Amino acid sequence: MKIRKEFIEKYKPASEILIKEFGSNINTAIIAGSGIAESIDTNKIVAEIDYDELSNLPKTSVSGHSGKAVLYTLDNINSIIFSGRFHYYEGRSIDEICSLVILSKLIGVEKLVITNAAGSLNPQHKTGDIMFIEDYIDFLFYKSNHIFFDENDFLVQNIKNNEFQSNIKLELTKNQIPYKEGVYAAVTGPNYETRAEIRMLRKIGADAVGMSTVPEIKAAISLNMNYLTFSLLTNSAKEVIQSVSHSEVIETAKNSFEKIRSIIEICIKNN
Ligand code: HPA
Repeated sequence: MKIRKEFIEKYKPASEILIKEFGSNINTAIIAGSGIAESIDTNKIVAEIDYDELSNLPKTSVSGHSGKAVLYTLDNINSIIFSGRFHYYEGRSIDEICSLVILSKLIGVEKLVITNAAGSLNPQHKTGDIMFIEDYIDFLFYKSNHIFFDENDFLVQNIKNNEFQSNIKLELTKNQIPYKEGVYAAVTGPNYETRAEIRMLRKIGADAVGMSTVPEIKAAISLNMNYLTFSLLTNSAKEVIQSVSHSEVIETAKNSFEKIRSIIEICIKNN
């Protein structure tokens, strides 16, 4: 399955700017979901570029998503952290939603870490838990202008047995950092789910729900990238809960900073 060539071409100029500013020796790219970028150790930030300066990248419009690429150096290993991503509910096109994955490929990273904040649907998972995404349900009802792949290509994009993800799980166990595993359902948003929607999502087998990540996973698979993906469960999408607020999501992310930072550092150091 190939991403249409014009989408790759579109982000080449931005990748050239990134390489010029950050160098070409970038090992890992991290797409940081709501509140997650703030967990990193600011002492290890070496340089930053606003998305505005990267040709053809859209603007972020959501609070908690600052819209910059950060060069992060840990033990002499260079990584790029994308603080802020693009969502379907912002009216973005499919290539814009996947632009950070395409850029990561173009700058030649070896590993991609896709993170998000999600609502937990599984009663055995708690707020603040990390859940590795083992499979997904895609409810992002793409419009025809969302055709992303070469024509006549309808292959299913299953998450494959992924060595990077398995290695990191082993490392987390060694470091006594607990994690969960589950199915992530991507919905369009921007509203959080109604009680009936939560009941439905549980019945169809979702363990977490969010508004991102699935198109990025598909792009990473198509581009043959070495990736892993996890959710930080920032709230419990229980039927009895009347509402979830974006500030609650950010607040939980704050409480999990230390754990997220450790996981990101383990991902960076793994090779
Ligand atoms: N639903 C959808 N998206 C989310 C949630 C949720 O409960 N929490 C964080 N992102």
